[in-house]
Amino acid sequence: MSHKVAFSFADGKTLFFDVRPNELLLDAALRSGVNIPLDCREGVCGTCQGRCESGSYSQDYVDEEALSADDLAERKMLSCQTRVQSDASFYFDFDSTLCHAGGTSLVSANVAGVQQVSETTAILHLDASAHPRRLDFLPGQYARLQVPGTDACRSYSFANRPNDGNQLQFLIRLLPDGAMSNYIRERCQPGQTIAFEAPLGAFYLRQVERPLIMVAGGTGLSAFLGMLDELAEQGGCGQPVRLYYGVSNARDLCELDRLAAYAERIANFSVEIVVMNPSPEWDGKTGLIPEHLDRRFLEANPFDMYLCGPPPMVEAIKQWLAEQRIDGSRLFYEKFSDSNTNR
Ligand code: FES
Repeated sequence: MSHKVAFSFADGKTLFFDVRPNELLLDAALRSGVNIPLDCREGVCGTCQGRCESGSYSQDYVDEEALSADDLAERKMLSCQTRVQSDASFYFDFDSTLCHAGGTSLVSANVAGVQQVSETTAILHLDASAHPRRLDFLPGQYARLQVPGTDACRSYSFANRPNDGNQLQFLIRLLPDGAMSNYIRERCQPGQTIAFEAPLGAFYLRQVERPLIMVAGGTGLSAFLGMLDELAEQGGCGQPVRLYYGVSNARDLCELDRLAAYAERIANFSVEIVVMNPSPEWDGKTGLIPEHLDRRFLEANPFDMYLCGPPPMVEAIKQWLAEQRIDGSRLFYEKFSDSNTNR
């Protein structure tokens, strides 16, 4: 059985290819046109090194000059000596351009529908089944969509996992006056064509080996819906998974049934909802997310934390972690502005 492998790079590009049973990763990459820099091909020079972010793998030979015991403990690996035993993803600390490969796909999809999921939020469903192959991306990555009838492009995180039918979802905040918001409100019809570029971004779910803390601000939830879809598909990850979902107003909240359903499929999954400006009827948590983080738990357990939301939210959490002197954690984050033009 072959395995699907993703190579992601410092420039945010990700390349996907198949690895045949027992095939060396380097051979599979070269066969697929991903020309990883290399020199010795014998596990000695270290030129082809990367780091495994998820999946299981083994290495034939690793010279101690190439990778130290500490490197190996950090899951650093040599492409020329690595064989995978599952689907896997690897990170390389150089730009994809060094591999002389394209990386992203330009895709033409059709609008399958728009679902208003809160007063301020919609899910855009795209059907990219006409694309000649499965559209691969890592849960958490995003696509850059061209707004039909305009020159404007907007970036949105995938709100579901990759699938054979190329049925895609994007959670979109409806602004009073925004290029995509206006299109969705005023002109969007099923069957219309939307072009997009994907996959993009270095914000994606790594191998889960420690408690997983997800912090979503507003439609930053989109990236986590993709990750949670993936974890649900796998039947969990063997670690506690806690999602903090913060919104400005309760009317922004969406996909609560879907979040509740994840608890049925992902063991030890919980959600904390925090509303910044509560109405009198709101009887849940209020204020800012850092006020509700479980300091004792975080101090006692090394964890992986993923943040996706507006820059002030990301900065507030980073500052809180620094002030509490909580370390030993891994932090991954993605900031976006309301118009989603900058990532
Ligand atoms: S090419 Fe030298 S270690 Fe892989």
